[in-house]
Amino acid sequence: MNPPQKKLRVAILGSGNIGTDLLIKSMRSNYLECTAFIGRNLVSQGMQMAQKLGVPISSNSISHIEENPDCCDLVFDATTAKDHFIHAAVLKKLGKIAIDLTPAKVGGMCVPAVNMEECLKQNNVNMVTCGGQASIPIAHVIGKTQKDVEYIEVVSSIASRSAGPGTRVNLDEYIHTTEAGLKLFSGAQRTKAILNLNPAHPCINMQTTVFAKVDNPNIDALKPELERMVKTIQAYVPGYNVILGPIVENGRIAVIVRVLGLGDYLPPYAGNLDIINCAALSMAENFAIERLEYK
Ligand SMILES: NC(=O)c1ccc[n+]([C@@H]2O[C@H](COP(=O)([O-])OP(=O)(O)OC[C@H]3O[C@@H](n4cnc5c(N)ncnc54)[C@H](OP(=O)(O)O)[C@@H]3O)[C@@H](O)[C@H]2O)c1
Repeated sequence: MNPPQKKLRVAILGSGNIGTDLLIKSMRSNYLECTAFIGRNLVSQGMQMAQKLGVPISSNSISHIEENPDCCDLVFDATTAKDHFIHAAVLKKLGKIAIDLTPAKVGGMCVPAVNMEECLKQNNVNMVTCGGQASIPIAHVIGKTQKDVEYIEVVSSIASRSAGPGTRVNLDEYIHTTEAGLKLFSGAQRTKAILNLNPAHPCINMQTTVFAKVDNPNIDALKPELERMVKTIQAYVPGYNVILGPIVENGRIAVIVRVLGLGDYLPPYAGNLDIINCAALSMAENFAIERLEYK
């Protein structure tokens, strides 16, 4: 495919860890142009970085888009779940595509490696959570290859430094949304999500462990499906790797993945930024291909 003549204009709402990393990544895209970086505080680190990069900035939050509806076609929301409920209604009224990186779960849950095609038909998609993006594809292949998945438990550890106030205020939503996503995409009867914010220095790499209690674990069926799924994810998150498994341990299937980031805003330990931001960008680029008819 030739590089496109026209790019999809995107706005980023939220100038914290997720929003700023997303900005840096979006500037490398052949399909997207960041035409507004929007927060509520002009002196925040993210705003200053956007200004240095020559991206138009505003501290007027969602009002900026209401007052300048022609500033963008698609909006990434990297604020908080509570704020997204308000933003979603405004963006719907203005006819903007919304890619929600908060765990608000207003739009349909989206994990590109699993359900990209059906998400491209929606105007508001929810990127679940970082732990969800790392574990749901694994839970999905477990659901596809194993009989009677009774229980799936997912434990993610991220460096405390990489979890901004927006993440901390959304911990309950993180748990509910990750558990709902695991259930939806695996068919498991019960699911549990745990998030550790690890304060260690030097900072720890993002790591996610998936445990599944199934009837008669079938590793031979799981292995090739898991390998295919990992390759699909690596196409948009290059630092995603299985570091253990699949193995059977105490009658449970266990798989551990580590996600290293590209080191765009925070150093590579913050794979939690990359796993959700690369997924969101992959969705946005596919929206661009669909809606601007590059095909
Ligand atoms: N960090 C992660 O690993 C991660 C991974 C996946 C998903 N998420 C989700 O992403 C969201 C952001 O997390 P984060 O870690 O990036 O938090 P953060 O660093 O606190 O960033 C949130 C940003 O949003 C801004 N903001 C809040 N309400 C706003 C509003 N109404 N209008 C405009 N800007 C607003 C904040 O502005 P101020 O600077 O003025 O406070 C802040 O800059 C959370 O919902 C979190 O659950 C985070």
